[in-house]
Amino acid sequence: MIIVAHGGAGWGKPRKKLLKTLERSLRAGYAILENGGSAIDAVMETIAIMEDSGQFNAGAGGNLQLDGVRRLDAALMDGRTLNCGSVIGLEGIRNPIKTARAVMKLPHKILTNIGAKRLAEAAELEPLAKPDEKALKRLEKFKKKGVDLTKFYEDYFSTVGAVALDRSGCVAAGSSTGGVALMLPGRVGDTPLIGSGIYAENSSGAVSCTGRGEDIIRMALAKEICMRMQDNSPEKAAKDSFKNLFKIEGQAGIISVNPKGKIAIIHTTGFMASGFADRKGVIVKDGFKRFAK
Ligand code: GLY
Repeated sequence: MIIVAHGGAGWGKPRKKLLKTLERSLRAGYAILENGGSAIDAVMETIAIMEDSGQFNAGAGGNLQLDGVRRLDAALMDGRTLNCGSVIGLEGIRNPIKTARAVMKLPHKILTNIGAKRLAEAAELEPLAKPDEKALKRLEKFKKKGVDLTKFYEDYFSTVGAVALDRSGCVAAGSSTGGVALMLPGRVGDTPLIGSGIYAENSSGAVSCTGRGEDIIRMALAKEICMRMQDNSPEKAAKDSFKNLFKIEGQAGIISVNPKGKIAIIHTTGFMASGFADRKGVIVKDGFKRFAK
């Protein structure tokens, strides 16, 4: 049994407080596995704690789109059944990852904006307060400055995610994000796209990606790495896919676990708040293995 989580890849060193929250979320996820819970429950809980904290670009801390609205994305996938659930552009709900879980119970796999919100409300999920004055002022300041969007993509992409292997040998993957800073209203990244942001399949493993969503989508990165894991270690699978990512000047970080419990935590960026929990305890760092071009 093992759970791996990340709090976003990027170039800024993650704060200690953020790493502490990541550690707390991993402990909570591992406790679920230890008590015989499923990988999907552990992944959801780990991500929900990060969403609630407001310290990550997800849930309560999610980026605002250029019109000042927080539209959140999240997805979950169960490696046993390939069942999955995803929400895109969810407004006013605190835990997109729990909404993605609710989608898994439907015959559909993806719900957007108003439909996702109605489902969350029917499931009595907690509402999310509107962005505060401080967040709106910061957005206005950046808009006035006339920022270079490409530069922002370089500096500030981040997301949260988790993968787990449970006692019964099942794997699961999940991810949640507020997208990238100063994105156009309606922009969607890799996170809610099954095969791009996440993938899980019991015979190969589970993968969750972070980074510049546009690059990850072009590669269908999570599925590519997952399929490579059928014949390769998680680390080799990730590195081989990153070589392709470099061909499109891509930036990403990934976490993965295979059915034997071997993991990889690899990022092209300077940092990726990340860690894992297993029977020996919890390890959290501001980066693990950097794999640069
Ligand atoms: N990786 C998150 C996003 O691009 O939206």
